[in-house]
Amino acid sequence: MCANEIVIKYASLDEILPVRKAVIIAGTNRDTPFFPGDDAPSTLHAGVFDDTQCIGCATLLYSEWQGAPAWQLRGMGVIADRQHRGIGRALLHFLERTLPEKAPSDGIWCNARETATPFYTREGFQVMSERFLIENVGPHYKLYKPFSPLEES
Ligand SMILES: CC(C)(COP(=O)(O)OP(=O)(O)OC[C@H]1O[C@@H](n2cnc3c(N)ncnc32)[C@H](O)[C@@H]1OP(=O)(O)O)[C@@H](O)C(=O)NCCC(=O)NCCS
Repeated sequence: MCANEIVIKYASLDEILPVRKAVIIAGTNRDTPFFPGDDAPSTLHAGVFDDTQCIGCATLLYSEWQGAPAWQLRGMGVIADRQHRGIGRALLHFLERTLPEKAPSDGIWCNARETATPFYTREGFQVMSERFLIENVGPHYKLYKPFSPLEES
């Protein structure tokens, strides 16, 4: 179940950056917490907030999947002591409900860490690639999920 009183909303990069640093960048050999396209006009950042504290984050880059417009999900994370309580799922459901209204798009894709891939496949993402290595981070799979109506979470 989801924690009480959390708010999920689109946010600024500054608001989500501490979680990205703590959950996505720490433990890798990346030399910067910034992603290419972070400040593009079409890029969206989303955060999960408990009161004013950001506890989860995701970044959405307006992109393409197999030639059709789609959102690329990057840097999705939930702080360690709040993981496995439904917060990541709630953030994904928020994105799936709201992204189709933001721009024409067929679905959502990501390069998922091998360790997180079961989280996404439980949520209906399909594995679309062989296992591949992202330098300084580790093994990944390419995943895709077409947009389809979801029940309210
Ligand atoms: C992956 C992550 C975002 C998931 O968020 P979360 O809040 O912990 O996930 P939830 O509690 O919403 O999990 C939803 C379901 O996925 C499962 N799940 C979550 N993470 C999982 C994992 N790494 N492996 C297998 N299952 C996982 C949960 O057990 C739950 O299963 P259920 O439906 O049986 O209850 C979070 O664990 C995280 O930040 N991990 C570290 C950073 C990371 O790997 N980010 C992804 C980069 S691609």
